Amino acid sequence: MSTQTASLRPVTTYRLYEMKQHGEKIAMLTAYDYSTARILDAAGVDVILVGDSAANVMAGYETTVPITLDNMIYHAKSVTRAVKRALVIVDLPFGTYQGNSKEALASAIRIMKETEADAVKLEGGEEILESVNRILSAGIPVMGHLGLTPQSIHKFGTYAVRAREEDEAEKLLRDALLLEKAGCFGMVLEKIPAALGRRVSESVRIPTIGIGAGNGTDGQVLVVNDMLGITNEFSPRFLRRYADLHGIMTDAFTNYITDVKSGDFPNDKEQY
Ligand code: KIV
Repeated sequence: MSTQTASLRPVTTYRLYEMKQHGEKIAMLTAYDYSTARILDAAGVDVILVGDSAANVMAGYETTVPITLDNMIYHAKSVTRAVKRALVIVDLPFGTYQGNSKEALASAIRIMKETEADAVKLEGGEEILESVNRILSAGIPVMGHLGLTPQSIHKFGTYAVRAREEDEAEKLLRDALLLEKAGCFGMVLEKIPAALGRRVSESVRIPTIGIGAGNGTDGQVLVVNDMLGITNEFSPRFLRRYADLHGIMTDAFTNYITDVKSGDFPNDKEQY
């Protein structure tokens, strides 16, 4: 099979597993809308996460806590309409899976049926294992998320690096093994020391995707608005900016305003 044909093959959870076994890094980014997802998919990203970070970058909330299941379904449907190749994972939002595994399954089923996404992602380890098991038992692929889990921000009280202390690091490792044993196909590791990111990645056979977890993980994820430099006020150490869209958009907007106000836009060729 030619590389061209192979690269057009849809990415599956099994393909991600194979990538880890072959030492091939996994590139994941978030998307929340049709136009961005279309560009990302065509660019060849392996995984698109419809993250509940939509609460921050789309809706302007301080935390991810307020976003609803209906909001996530709206964003996810916009993304899946655009995607032909990448694996699409959708975050279960806060309050839709933590306390009750039946509700967790109902939430996951709504996501799968209404959005045609490929998988769901949940934050937490042992505490949410019952929900993870019930969702998996329905045949829905689950990605875990350990370390800094933003839905628990009111418990943490800070977005600082997690698991610097031995106790928390050991619990994180135990949780990673539990998620793997339960049958999760992968997990996000967020904002933990690089050495721990590597240790967890070497301890599990399923792929780990890091965000602020060093380069020993099996893949990386960033929030698309952050890596594009749209959100220029957010500058954690782990963030590499690949563009300055804040500057480019500001220039475009101010030029447009100037052109409209001066009567320069539209010109003769831009009208009927
Ligand atoms: O919601 C999100 O964007 C995420 C990533 C930061 C992993 O969970």
